Amino acid sequence: MISRTAAYVALYRALETQTKQPLFVDPLAAGFLPAHLRLLARAARLRSVAAVLERYADARAPGARTSAIARTRFIDDAVSRLAAEQLVILGAGFDCRAHRLPSLAHARVFEVDRRATQDEKRRRLASRGVRADVRYVPVDFLVDDVRARLVEAGWDEAARTTFVWEGVSNYLSEPAVQQVLGLAGGAAAGSGIVFTYIHRGVLDQPADFVGGPRIVANVNMDGGNLLGRVRTLNVLGDTKSSLGPQLSSMLKTATSPINKTDPGGTSLMRNSFSLSGARSLLGPAAGCEF
Ligand SMILES: C[S@@+](CC[C@H](N)C(=O)[O-])C[C@H]1O[C@@H](n2cnc3c(N)ncnc32)[C@H](O)[C@@H]1O
Repeated sequence: MISRTAAYVALYRALETQTKQPLFVDPLAAGFLPAHLRLLARAARLRSVAAVLERYADARAPGARTSAIARTRFIDDAVSRLAAEQLVILGAGFDCRAHRLPSLAHARVFEVDRRATQDEKRRRLASRGVRADVRYVPVDFLVDDVRARLVEAGWDEAARTTFVWEGVSNYLSEPAVQQVLGLAGGAAAGSGIVFTYIHRGVLDQPADFVGGPRIVANVNMDGGNLLGRVRTLNVLGDTKSSLGPQLSSMLKTATSPINKTDPGGTSLMRNSFSLSGARSLLGPAAGCEF
């Protein structure tokens, strides 16, 4: 099945691209939308329509649109600053960094996602004249050995790698989250991972977070299934095992809450992040701080 959530992120990026002072420009994003969302995006070129759409989206899923936009820029900057030889995008969906970030022109890029979403992405990109050397690695995080699949696809474990894991951790089981963090923790010195997660405080004390009660209600409508999965995010705070000491200690700082009373993070996140956080965990040779 093609990822629906990936299409919503593409919609938010298409809408941001059309604004007067966009945080980033993603000219390919609109091309991934199903017909009804494409129509919506087209109509939203009118600022008055965009304003209504934004109000509607933000009421239904508080923080989803704004955090998707803020984290896109945050991660763009992180990836460019890290300037690693390899970029691995985990749960890439319709992420088009490989095609739009000049800093990646000489990097080897691996995109990891389920096959159906990758096939759709390739189909839609086929006529867009984009770089053809992106390596698509079909993986289900819940069952596959991600490291083995990457190595088969030509990922060089000895070379510096930036991992991007954006909007994905909250869909996974605890072992799947552990697997990804273990992969990044074992990568070559100077590698880094930038990822998003939903802080467990949103679940435990939703009223402390902008839009928290609404988002927890949305999640509960799913019969609690999603809530169970979202709870895996506590692994980001509690995990000690299998990551290596360097990544474990960085994780401690990576889980400080982003909420009304203790926003934390960059000013970009303070303004726009309400329900999810993005943090980068960088190896010592990377020389970056966020
Ligand atoms: C919210 S989208 C984010 C997409 C992309 N990272 C972005 O920011 O544009 C979540 C992505 O995670 C992928 N995903 C979720 N669960 C997965 C799994 N078990 N195995 C592989 N991919 C998965 C979906 O296919 C989808 O592309």
